[in-house]
Amino acid sequence: MKIKKVGVIGCGLMGSGIVEVCARAGYEVVVREVSDELLQKGLGRIQQSMSKGVQKGKITQEEMEAAWKRIKGTTSLSDMAACDIAIEAAIENMAIKKSIFAELDGILPPHAILASNTSSLCVTEMASVTRRGDKVLGIHFFNPVPVMPLIEFVRTILTSDETMAIAHEFGASLGKTMVIAKDTPGFIVNRLLVPYLLDAVRIYEEGLASKEDIDTAIKLGLNHPMGPLTLLDFVGLDTTLFIADAMYEEYKDPRYAAPPLLRRMVLAGQLGRKSGKGFYNY
Ligand code: 3HC
Repeated sequence: MKIKKVGVIGCGLMGSGIVEVCARAGYEVVVREVSDELLQKGLGRIQQSMSKGVQKGKITQEEMEAAWKRIKGTTSLSDMAACDIAIEAAIENMAIKKSIFAELDGILPPHAILASNTSSLCVTEMASVTRRGDKVLGIHFFNPVPVMPLIEFVRTILTSDETMAIAHEFGASLGKTMVIAKDTPGFIVNRLLVPYLLDAVRIYEEGLASKEDIDTAIKLGLNHPMGPLTLLDFVGLDTTLFIADAMYEEYKDPRYAAPPLLRRMVLAGQLGRKSGKGFYNY
């Protein structure tokens, strides 16, 4: 089976990035949002990002225009009927993801692969509401999707070798490097990243150093592109808290227990870049 047409569910931060890399790699892409307003916002984000790619000399104006023509926005899942793969990038809510998976299972052609971009939820549980468990896997991209070279594949105990082989060919065609992880909360990257980010909040909370010094220390001492508190603002404090809670729920290990300050900042609406304020102001 050769993938020609890609469906993406959700055109938020991750969904719009996934649409962009797929369209730039030559695939026809159908992207679905829940409302026209959110769809237009997501499509605007793709245009902005591709224009930045042109400015930075990563793609030509002609390539951008050709990629743009391959993208079709919709508010209806039924427009995914001719897709060879559907990648769900909706909000991190299991009930919503399961309802999308069940509906798509009835819409997609029998050969199609169904993937989730979840960063922490159980992919096997999503597969359980479909009749194609062998064709379900996690395809976890990283933010910003057009820039970050990694994809984590999440293989469940149901995923077939054939599905993994097709997914591998697809990932390579997007120009990404791939790693494979079992279906456990956090997979590889977040399993290691989240305790580190939580520890950064803990040392800030206990007054070990200023936020600027914590970030400068890691940036210059370890050559990371961003310090941990800047990265938390970039990823979203709510997203990080959600992943930490999911990991704590599964492992009951204090390493994944969210520090009180993180929870309070989320409750106060200080979510990072997306809300204009997190550890820093934007
Ligand atoms: N298309 C193609 N390339 C683009 C682009 C676009 N739309 N936008 C930027 N680029 C390229 C630039 O040309 C540049 O490439 P070069 O190094 O070859 O010149 C590179 O991307 C960096 O872009 P900028 O110079 O504009 O930006 P910065 O140097 O400020 O870097 C950053 C920004 C890439 C976000 C960097 O700060 C970084 O890597 N931060 C860490 C990001 C990270 O850790 N992400 C993972 C988060 S965890 C996650 O996503 C998992 C989830 O489950 C939580």
